[in-house]
Amino acid sequence: MAGNAEESRTTPSTQLLRGQKALVTGSNSGIGMATALALGRAGADVVVNYVVGADEAEKVVEQIRGFGVRSYAHEADVSDEDQVVGMVDRMVREFGTIDIMVPNAGLQRDAPLTEMSLAQWQKVIDVNLTGQFLCAREAAKEFMRRGVVADVSRSAGKIVCMSSVHQIVPWAGHVNYASSKGGVGMMMQTLAQELAPHRIRVNAVAPGAIRTPINKSAWDTPEAEAELLKLIPYRRVGDPDDIANAVVAMASDLLDYVVGTTLYVDGGMTLFPGFATGG
Ligand code: BGC
Repeated sequence: MAGNAEESRTTPSTQLLRGQKALVTGSNSGIGMATALALGRAGADVVVNYVVGADEAEKVVEQIRGFGVRSYAHEADVSDEDQVVGMVDRMVREFGTIDIMVPNAGLQRDAPLTEMSLAQWQKVIDVNLTGQFLCAREAAKEFMRRGVVADVSRSAGKIVCMSSVHQIVPWAGHVNYASSKGGVGMMMQTLAQELAPHRIRVNAVAPGAIRTPINKSAWDTPEAEAELLKLIPYRRVGDPDDIANAVVAMASDLLDYVVGTTLYVDGGMTLFPGFATGG
């Protein structure tokens, strides 16, 4: 991809995160993969977490190493407390510390309310919300232990939660997912308030419709894509790099005064597009 004109228009050229250590959960595919690569390109050492798909994770690690930074893959289920504790402990042993936590791992188990099983509800809450809580908690412990290192960053640590437009947009047939992301929004703000005095910045990036495996059926035929575009005023489906670039910016000192904010990266999906002509 190097030297490609499209990439040079969309890739920050400076190493905004040089010397920082980042962990991205669920980074063997989709938005997580693009984010792990972008953090590595920006100069950070990166832990690539995955739960299934070791081969893909290793490929991401190889690409990140190609940027001249360190990287390894770590298998862990983010909804399992011991595994999250073990993952962050290993990172501190191998990389010395953590500066950037991106709790990104997420999934959907869609069903109308009356057909949704407790297992479907619970799985989505466990991974999307409890998983982010556990990752934030373990990262915050290390951020507080270490404090600010002026040569590295103005902040003692950054948590960039992966949310969704469904943090604020209700979504029929997806009550588990929408509830998990609504919860991520309030968790993020509460943690931001609690941790800011420790110079820890907690924020969220909230993607709209991004071309990834999670929503393939919404964009992989021309008919589906045409329907989807009606919900996007900017009239393009997002790319994983749209989100990855937002995470890099959010984690960097360029946005050091941004605390407790959700950055919607959605082509205007949250602008109530139905009201462009109605109402
Ligand atoms: C969901 C996608 C959906 C998008 C916009 C995301 O959070 O995971 O399936 O296409 O929101 O509705």
